[in-house]
Amino acid sequence: MRWRAEPVTPHTPGAMDFTLSSYGTASSTPAPVNRMMEAFADDFRPGRDINLGVGYVNESTIPAGLVLEELQRVIADPARHKTPFNYGGPRGSARLIQSISDFITRTGRGGLNRGHLKGRGIIIGASGATSLLEAMAQVIRPGIVITSDPMYYIYCNLLERMGFHVIAIPEDDCGLRTDLLYERIDRLGDRCRDISFFYIVSVSNPTATILSNARRGEIVAAAATLSRAQGRAIPVLFDTAYDDIVHDPACEKPLSALLFDELGIVYESGSLSKILAPALRIGYLIGSPGPLLNAIMQKTADTGFSAPLFSQEIASRILDEHIEQQLDRVNRGYREKARAVKSWIGRELGPWIENCTGGSAAFYFYLTFRDIATDESSLFFKYLTRTTGDPDIDGPAADRHARVLYVPGCHCVHPRGELREQGRRQMRISYGFEEPERIEQALRLMGEAACFCENAGPCA
Ligand SMILES: Cc1ncc(COP(=O)(O)O)c(C=O)c1O
Repeated sequence: MRWRAEPVTPHTPGAMDFTLSSYGTASSTPAPVNRMMEAFADDFRPGRDINLGVGYVNESTIPAGLVLEELQRVIADPARHKTPFNYGGPRGSARLIQSISDFITRTGRGGLNRGHLKGRGIIIGASGATSLLEAMAQVIRPGIVITSDPMYYIYCNLLERMGFHVIAIPEDDCGLRTDLLYERIDRLGDRCRDISFFYIVSVSNPTATILSNARRGEIVAAAATLSRAQGRAIPVLFDTAYDDIVHDPACEKPLSALLFDELGIVYESGSLSKILAPALRIGYLIGSPGPLLNAIMQKTADTGFSAPLFSQEIASRILDEHIEQQLDRVNRGYREKARAVKSWIGRELGPWIENCTGGSAAFYFYLTFRDIATDESSLFFKYLTRTTGDPDIDGPAADRHARVLYVPGCHCVHPRGELREQGRRQMRISYGFEEPERIEQALRLMGEAACFCENAGPCA
C-alpha cells in the first residue's frame, strides 16, 4: 500500500505527549519552591509585599557605575581586551583567569598562595558557578552524592532530576557532622562504590553555617580514604559561593579545601555573583587538570561556548583594581544588616524560636520554631501570604494587606532525610535583597502570624 499523507488537521495542544528523557520528564513541572516563588512574583506589589524568600544580593552592593566605566575601558583598549563582543573559548578569558589567580593570592583568599595554585587549573563557567555545578553533574557517572542537610535545594533538586541519589548528612554549628558522615559511609557498605562525588557548600545556603576549617580537612580526608580504598578518584566539590562574605570579624577565616588535598580530588567552585553582580554570570572552578576538568570545559563549550567575553573582561579589570574596596563595602553592608535583623528576630519571634543560625556570613537566617509549622499548608504561611480566607486578616480581595514570603524549611531539608519532620517547623529568611525597614516590618508580621498560630492550637 502506498503511503499517503494525512490531511493536515489543526493541532490541539496537549493532545499528544512528547517522548522526553527521564531528565526532561522530571523537569517538565517546575520544582515546588520555584512554583511558590513564581506564584508570589506574579502579582508582587513593590513597596507593599516583602520578599524574604529570594536569594538576591542587595542592589546597593552592586557597583553598576564601575561596571559601566570598566566596560568603556575594555572597549577603549583592544590590545589588552581582544574582541570582547565575539565568541570566547571554553577555558575562559586568559585575563580573567590571571586576575582570579592574582585576587586569590593577593588577598590570601582561603589561605592560598601561588605555590598552592601552581599545577592547578582555573576555568570559567558558561553562566556563573551554577553552570559549573551542572557541568560536574553532566560529566560524572550518576550515583550517590553526599552533601549536608539542610541542603542547597536548587542544586540538589537538579541532581535528583538528573538521576543522582542525594544523601544529606545533618549539620551542627560547625557544618556537616563528620561523625555522621563516617557512620553513613560505613552503613553504605558495598554501595560506597556508587558514590559519584561529595558536594560541600562551605558556607551553607540555607543555614549560613560556616563549615569549620577542621571539618573541611576531615571531609577531604574521608574522600581520600575512600578513593584509595576503591582505587579511583572521588571528587569533592566545594562550593565557596559565600566564602568571601564571612562578615563577622570574630569568625575564623575560611581555609580553602585545596590546602588539604593530597590526591588532587578537590575542586573548588567560586562565584563573583555575591561580591560583584549576579548578572555578570562569572563563576570559576579550581582543581587538578586532567580528564574531569577537560570534560567540564567541553560542557562549557556545549552549553554556549563561554561566558560573555565582555563580562569576563569587565570582571578581570574590577578584580585587578577595585576588589578590595568592593569586598569591604559588601561585607560592611551585610554585617550591619545582620546585626539589625538578628535583634528584630529576637524581639518579634523570640518566644517561639528553638534555634536560629546565620548572622556571621552570607545573608540568610535559618529559624527553627518550637511548634509552629511553616509549610505552604500551615496557618503561619497562610497568614503571611494572606490566604487564610478571613477578610480581617487577608484584607479585601482587590487590595490584600502586605504579604511576606520566605522559604519554608520543608524545601530546604532532604525530603527523605533525618530532618524531614524538623523541616516542617523551619524557614530560611534572606536579608540580602529587601531594605532594613521592610525586613523589620516583615518580622513584625511574622510575630503577628506566630501569635495567630498560637491562638489556633499546637503546631497549627
Ligand atoms: C550555594 C550556592 N552556590 C551557587 C550559587 C549560584 O552562583 P552563580 O550566581 O555564580 O551561578 C548560589 C546562588 O545563590 C548559591 O547559593
